[in-house]
Amino acid sequence: MKETRVKKHHNPVHRDLGKSKLFFPEELLSNNFKPTLSMKRTNAGSSGSSRLSSRSNSSNGRSQSNNGRSSNGSRSASSSSRKTQATSSGSASEDLEKVLKNTMKDIYYAEKQLVKALNKMSKAANNEELKEGFEQHREETEGHVEKLGQAFELLGMRAAGKNCPAMDGLIEEGAEAIEEYEKGPARDAALIVAAQKVEHYEIAAYGSMHAFAEVLGHDDCAQIFQEILDEESTTDEKLTMVAETVNQEAMDASETEDEEEMEEA
Ligand SMILES: [Fe+2]
Ligand SMILES: [Fe+2]
Repeated sequence: MKETRVKKHHNPVHRDLGKSKLFFPEELLSNNFKPTLSMKRTNAGSSGSSRLSSRSNSSNGRSQSNNGRSSNGSRSASSSSRKTQATSSGSASEDLEKVLKNTMKDIYYAEKQLVKALNKMSKAANNEELKEGFEQHREETEGHVEKLGQAFELLGMRAAGKNCPAMDGLIEEGAEAIEEYEKGPARDAALIVAAQKVEHYEIAAYGSMHAFAEVLGHDDCAQIFQEILDEESTTDEKLTMVAETVNQEAMDASETEDEEEMEEA
């Protein structure tokens, strides 16, 4: 039964928001777009993936990142509730279809920009593991562009992006890290912060797109979004692990600088 199936993906969006009426504005509720029972249950539940990291890099050391699920629900609606939505709330499902398609265009643009950005970030990084990580994720990101192309095709759409100012801003933060710091551990730490912000944006987008696709019955698309989501989550986890080394390198470098200054004085 689908209600008991455990989904692998997570979403950093606050998990408890799904329980809040605030997240389902009156217009949507009055338009028969109501969360199904299974969606509500999932939103209140814990993340289904044990391998996903709960820590993110932070300039202040470790901090807890929210591994809650998408506020749009990360669990599939049952086939019966899908049918109900498709038949009894035509306009609501059309609206949701539009939200899905617009989100796809947004992330398609973002992924294309990221291919170029990750190339620059790899060259700018000092730590070898980080360098290789950026390079590996650049290749994966090219795959994400291709997979999104397949999803557009499945929906009978031409693959096309639309400007995503949020992603432009996040990429700009990565560029600023390169400008502001010389090649070394501090720049690496700043690059990790920028990269994790990007991954969390992507995780939010793909988590929601997966939920939309499932509830709308686009199972093939949902599968594609889940595959991409898994790679984004793994990348986020790897960045957290590299951050532990990089942060220590940054601390060691500043201690050496302090000692040198004391010797000179
Ligand atoms: Fe991606
Ligand atoms: Fe990514």
